[in-house]
Amino acid sequence: MRENLPSVTLAMVMSLDGRTSIPHGRFPTSPEDQDHFSRLKREFPYVLIGRETWWAARSHMTEAPPRRLVFSHTPDHFTADALPGIVEFTDKDPLEALRMLRGRGISRVLLAGGSTLNAAFLRQRLITECIITIEPIILGQGKPLFNGDVPDTHLRFRSQRQLNSRGTTVLEYTMEYEHPTDQNR
Ligand SMILES: NC(=O)c1ccc[n+]([C@@H]2O[C@H](COP(=O)([O-])OP(=O)(O)OC[C@H]3O[C@@H](n4cnc5c(N)ncnc54)[C@H](OP(=O)(O)O)[C@@H]3O)[C@@H](O)[C@H]2O)c1
Repeated sequence: MRENLPSVTLAMVMSLDGRTSIPHGRFPTSPEDQDHFSRLKREFPYVLIGRETWWAARSHMTEAPPRRLVFSHTPDHFTADALPGIVEFTDKDPLEALRMLRGRGISRVLLAGGSTLNAAFLRQRLITECIITIEPIILGQGKPLFNGDVPDTHLRFRSQRQLNSRGTTVLEYTMEYEHPTDQNR
């Protein structure tokens, strides 16, 4: 990763048709995926999320580690919601936020959505790897994995793991921003 920035692991769960959210702040998941995500996030000092995701899950974000860095264009509106050492709000762009975390000695972070913040990180090619759970359901509506313009990006498959008898599957990929077939090289 350029500048020795913290590596960024994107972890999300989605339906078979690529939907990551359903109305009222919910998303497709299973008990096994929730266990998987709980274990995964314990490996990281920081979880980075968008303000909408924080809003949907804020009642669960009362303890650290991991610390939560919440992205908003208006962090001043959330001063009363910040929890010292637990939940922090920032209006930095993704690159500047990673530089700030590097300055705190952080070498890796978990990016946990939602789709709008994911796209902001991918636009700046800051995502290092993706750990994506696929739930065997088709939803027909809801936000995609990346909401907004993003560059075509190749990934290198690393592994797959089935979490339950219904076929919930975790796929792991490494980003390959300099793929040999990229047309814009
Ligand atoms: N399937 C999954 O694994 C998963 C994971 C996480 C969330 N979700 C679901 O996804 C939904 C939320 O996703 P979403 O795409 O609507 O929203 P989101 O990405 O969680 O949050 C979007 C908000 O984040 C802030 N933001 C985004 N990019 C920014 C940037 N570059 N700089 C500063 N602030 C930035 C803005 O907040 P302001 O409006 O305050 O400026 C923006 O409105 C929820 O339903 C949630 O439950 C699913």
